[in-house]
Amino acid sequence: MRRAEEVHVVVVGSTNFDLVVKADRLPKEGESMLATNLKFFPGGKGANQAVGVARLGAKATFVGAVGKDMIGDFLIQGLEANAIDTTYVRRDPACTTGCAFIMLFPNGNNSNVVDPAANFSLTPVDIERAEDVIGRADALCTVLEVPLEVVETALRLARKAGKLPVLDAGPPRHCPPEILKLADVVSPNETELEQLSGEKVSGRVSAREAAEKLLELGVKTVVLKLGSDGAMLVTRRGSKHFPAYKVEAVDPTAAGDAFTAALTVRLAAGAPMEEAIRYANLAGALAVTKLGAQPSLPTRAEVEAFAARAANPPGPATPRRK
Ligand code: RIB
Repeated sequence: MRRAEEVHVVVVGSTNFDLVVKADRLPKEGESMLATNLKFFPGGKGANQAVGVARLGAKATFVGAVGKDMIGDFLIQGLEANAIDTTYVRRDPACTTGCAFIMLFPNGNNSNVVDPAANFSLTPVDIERAEDVIGRADALCTVLEVPLEVVETALRLARKAGKLPVLDAGPPRHCPPEILKLADVVSPNETELEQLSGEKVSGRVSAREAAEKLLELGVKTVVLKLGSDGAMLVTRRGSKHFPAYKVEAVDPTAAGDAFTAALTVRLAAGAPMEEAIRYANLAGALAVTKLGAQPSLPTRAEVEAFAARAANPPGPATPRRK
């Protein structure tokens, strides 16, 4: 297996400015409701995955679009501060930069409304401009927070160059089987799986059955993100569940992105699928322990330290002598 430093991942996807507040509940239609703790974070599923890849020690190139505004400057600076190649980030003077409005609830869940703005100005031509770098990379991952024709072009170019194409199926959106089939690995969470399969998902059994629908549509490998229930691998050879690592949950935002980044880095390094999923589960769990999208993405050292703690949990405390 290669070291993470030798791995290069191209991420084609979205970049957003996240506005996060704590709220007791969702407001009703027509209601004005108070919230607290407004915070701003760099986010966006694609950019989060690029940062996740870089923090795990691999080289990351991000292909995306932002507006010609202050928020776009801020997001590009954030990517560059993480040593991400931003050569293929287009500035679009006709658009604002993508923004996400996130509410965190006392039970640890969140709700998210996104205006993709410049992210939806991406076209297949933007991706074709990055064909060279895709050809030099080991893997490509992409998300559904950009136009579907962009997802299709990205996966096609990665496939044509013989690179590992991974599709993180977020946010929940219909995606035709012809596009899904272009990815070697499709990784949805439960709500995303419902959209892709048209099946209601609640719990492991229905998740496996819905994932099997994707296999019937021609998808080769489904890696399900089940949140606090871990992950599940579903292929034509069968399915396997991977339990979650227990953590103190603060904010689930970007946990799925941490998972996809780690899965892609590990698979691109040559790890077997089951090992890559265990590693991704560690990264996803750590991301839940911190507030915000990109600030929560773990480094390789953090994942390794957590793996060591998970393998050797502290024993019962030695009783003190009286
Ligand atoms: O996956 C988390 C991300 O989804 C957030 O950072 C937000 O920008 C939305 O795109």
